Order: sequence, then structure tokens, then C-alpha cells
Amino acid sequence: MPELSNALLETLLEQVRPLTARGAVASYIPALAEVPAHALGIAIVTSDGQLFQAGDAQTRFSVQSISKVLSLSVALTRYSDDEIWQRVGKEPSGQPFNSLVQLELEHGKPRNPFINAGALVVCDMLETRLTAPRQRMLEFIRQLSGTADINYDRHVARSEYEHSARNAAIAWLMKSFGNFHNDVSKVMQTYFHYCALSMNCVELARSFVYLANQGKAVDGTTILTPRQARQINALMITSGMYDGAGEFAWRVGMPAKSGVGGGIIAVIPNKMSIAVWSPGLDAIGNSLAGTAVLELLSEQLGSSVL
Ligand code: DON
Repeated sequence: MPELSNALLETLLEQVRPLTARGAVASYIPALAEVPAHALGIAIVTSDGQLFQAGDAQTRFSVQSISKVLSLSVALTRYSDDEIWQRVGKEPSGQPFNSLVQLELEHGKPRNPFINAGALVVCDMLETRLTAPRQRMLEFIRQLSGTADINYDRHVARSEYEHSARNAAIAWLMKSFGNFHNDVSKVMQTYFHYCALSMNCVELARSFVYLANQGKAVDGTTILTPRQARQINALMITSGMYDGAGEFAWRVGMPAKSGVGGGIIAVIPNKMSIAVWSPGLDAIGNSLAGTAVLELLSEQLGSSVL
């Protein structure tokens, strides 16, 4: 088994580079279509704090749905388990991430916190208990990453708000079932800002070490209990890649969460967190080259969780 090194990561990137021409950059949020389509980067932070990186690992991009893991983590520190899981489920949806179909049939309770409906409910909960949810998220991510200048890309957040018909429909449908308590546009603004967090692979890999390290951040602070970290990893395995979660587990075998900005964060518990970025997406909305590089890495390291 090869040792982890920057050179190994560069070799893996070169193997998947042809795939960067094959995926489609997300365009349903116009600002996302402005990214460099052929970008490709990877960063790994190990449990003992070593950093490895290659390619465009230091170019920031829109984290999009990767933020759903962060908002759930903050909610876990403010709400009891019962309070959270009576409003959002823990099951894979098997549906596109912005689908409304199941929500109507299941009385406004989203299947899991990683589809749009679930993340909107989580943001609604944060709106209730936090005085400044946007500021709190910035403080959280700056602490996790050890980087003081992480911020929201306001251009992306505005673009999402201007094209928010589907998310608004989801939120209003949940409100009709009594599962959404605050003002819809206020909560959507928070949700869009979270999605518009602008970070690079190095910052993401550093930030998500708490899921590899039983709830402890890179600087040693406790973010979640070991049990909560394990539970989030379980949800990422079953629901982190939307209706592609089964295929992803089969190919890569790691808890992971994707975003339509082309980022994926993956975790090997007790070993490392891995961030990849390539904006071209597959039909489900997951990074095409990003998934391929994680598959190669998992084979090379012989170190997936499954
Ligand atoms: O609400 C949306 O549609 C986007 N802000 C986030 C979607 C997303 O990243 C789904 N990911 N694969």
C-alpha cells in the first residue's frame, strides 16, 4: 500500500483529469455556472494533523450542500436528539435533493437532514434558538478550519435567492404541515448563505477532521460527542450523496457529502478527512471527477470503512 504523499495525490488527479471535461457544471443557480469547469483539487488532513494536497486545493468555491453537515452539527449542540429527529428523518430519500414528492406523502417531515427539505428544517430550528445564525456559522467554520477570513459569497447567495422557487415551495409545504416555524424568506436567506460559504479543499479537509476524530476539531476542541460524530457519519453513508448514495458506497465506501459546487467531503473515521473539488457533475448532482478520485484513493489506500 503506498504512503500518503502530495505526489501520490497528484498522480491520482492526473488519472481522473479527462473526466473533468465530461461532467456538467450546475447552472440552475446562475452564479454557479461561472466557475472554471476544469478545476480539480484534493486535500487530506489526517487525524494527527498532517496535510496533503494537490491541484487546485487552494482555490475557493461554493460549498453548497456540504454546509448541510455543518448546520446539522450546530443544531446538535442546541437541540436534544428527540427535538431534532421528530422533525426530520434519518432515512435515505432515493429522490433528487430538491424533490417535493415525498414531502407531501410524508406529511411535511423530510426524509433526512441532507436533502434540501431537511436542511431547511434544520435552518428553521437554528433561526429559533440562535440570535444571529449567519454570524454563528461563520464563527463555527472559522474555528473548525483555523482560517479567519472564510466568508459567504454574496453573489452566489443572491443568485440562489433570485432562483428559489423550488426551495420556497418546499418550505411553504412544510409550513402547511406545521413543520416550519419561522418566516420562510428569512430562513431561506440563512440557508442560501450557508450554501454560499466559500472555502477551498484545504480549509474543508481541516474543518471536517472532527468527524474523523470522534467529535474533536483540529485544535483539539470538542465539537460533538463521539456518538454524535458517528451518527453523522452514518447519515453521510446513507444519505450524503442523495439518490447516488448506494452507488457511491459501492464504489468508494466512505461517509461523504457532496455539493452542487462540485465539492465532496469524505471521512475515514480515526484516520483522515478528504476534500475534493471538480465542478463537473453527474446526472444526480455529484462531482464526476471528484467521485472518481475518491474511488482511486480508496483502492490505493485500501482504507475505506466498508
Ligand atoms: O438549495 C439548493 O438547491 C442548493 N443551494 C444546494 C444544493 C446542493 O448542493 C445539492 N447537492 N448536491
